[in-house]
Amino acid sequence: MTRPSDITHLRTVEEADVYKAGILAGHLRRERDDVVFTYIDHYLDDSAAPPVAFTLPKRTDAFRATGGSVPPFFAGLMPEGLRLTAITRAARTSEDDHFSILLAVGADTIGDIQVLSTGTIPADPQPLFDQSDTTSADFTALFTRATSTNAEELDRTALPGVQIKVSAQMISTPISGARGPAILKLNPPEYPLLVENENFFLDMAHECGIHVPNHQLAADRNGRTALFVDRFDRIIEHGEVRRLAQEDACQVLGRYPAAKYRITLQEAIKALADAVTTGRGSHLVATLQMLEIAAFSYLIGNGDLHGKNLSIRQNPAGTWEVTPAYDLLTTQPYMSWNDPMALSLYGRDAKLAYRWWAEAATRLGISIRAMNRSLTRILDASESWTNRVAEIGFDDKITHRLTTLIAERREQLRPSRV
Ligand SMILES: Nc1ncnc2c1ncn2[C@@H]1O[C@H](COP(=O)(O)OP(=O)(O)OP(=O)(O)O)[C@@H](O)[C@H]1O
Ligand SMILES: [Mg+2]
Repeated sequence: MTRPSDITHLRTVEEADVYKAGILAGHLRRERDDVVFTYIDHYLDDSAAPPVAFTLPKRTDAFRATGGSVPPFFAGLMPEGLRLTAITRAARTSEDDHFSILLAVGADTIGDIQVLSTGTIPADPQPLFDQSDTTSADFTALFTRATSTNAEELDRTALPGVQIKVSAQMISTPISGARGPAILKLNPPEYPLLVENENFFLDMAHECGIHVPNHQLAADRNGRTALFVDRFDRIIEHGEVRRLAQEDACQVLGRYPAAKYRITLQEAIKALADAVTTGRGSHLVATLQMLEIAAFSYLIGNGDLHGKNLSIRQNPAGTWEVTPAYDLLTTQPYMSWNDPMALSLYGRDAKLAYRWWAEAATRLGISIRAMNRSLTRILDASESWTNRVAEIGFDDKITHRLTTLIAERREQLRPSRV
């Protein structure tokens, strides 16, 4: 018999059930080195049942991926970086064996899909961090646990992204009093103040009129910090967690995570806005919101706005929309002040002054007036934040340089008559 924490047997599992919003929709099956997704007839016959993903339209034909990989939508659910390495080792398999890795964490993925060994009843795994306050916690130990190759220690939640993070409950705040599914982002030793940085720019974005998730900086018993971010692909309804569908630009484009730095910003924006239209949402609103996130990223020197850092979700009423902005931070202090945008916008990834945004907006179907309004709103609200950069905690030199960078970019972005 295998213990529940033993995941080495997943190498030998040949078939998995795929659930969409709690309903069995299809199967993922190994066929030698290929992995094949097929819908079950019952799901296909239900005209009200939505496709599992934009790139997996309902049809009887199978979707096939080769070389050990799973179709790109499913690959987009997988962890990355050190946590991927940890799960791979714990499962005694290789990083190319997507199927086994997905099974290890498939009960709780970003969005509303669950991938489980055939016959397993879907259930919510326990969050790895479930304390209601952090004053007795030890984030260093949590970091070690999140990267451990011991199956008993594993976080069985599929959280993409390279930064070390764990599933958590949002700690109750005096303001909201709410506790719900959250992501706890830990400070990596090689990037000092990363979570303070993200917390600061999420706050700033919020004041600039950009939607961001509820978030909160917390300290452990040793004064180490981490950032709680409320999951916007989950809501609590009648006391139960409800999963909401969500996809990032790579998933919607049918590209593997490996392409996240190789697509263009306009490709990502167009694909996501088109998907929003398919999901009965507004193309114009979605496009403008993503341009705002991109312009804000340029303003603060965020060089990591790649194809997995822009997403859309199905809101509780059923309409698709751009998700609140996430992973917003400045990368410049860690990258010798020379970090261009992760994705180019119509051929350019640096020196993105106002005219470039105005032209990009026009090409994406947004009026100059609307783009000007957005930029002006962001720039006006950002003024007071330029002088608050010291709150992040960088030393004087970095603080001064970052303040100057943001001030200069504010000038570059200011709408002018062309
Ligand atoms: N608040 C949230 N609610 C739901 N999903 C989220 C939320 N924040 C992030 N995500 C999803 O989780 C993924 C990882 O989160 P995030 O981008 O913050 O991590 P990261 O490790 O900093 O990423 P990167 O590798 O880009 O640096 C995102 O790509 C997105 O799909
Ligand atoms: Mg990210």
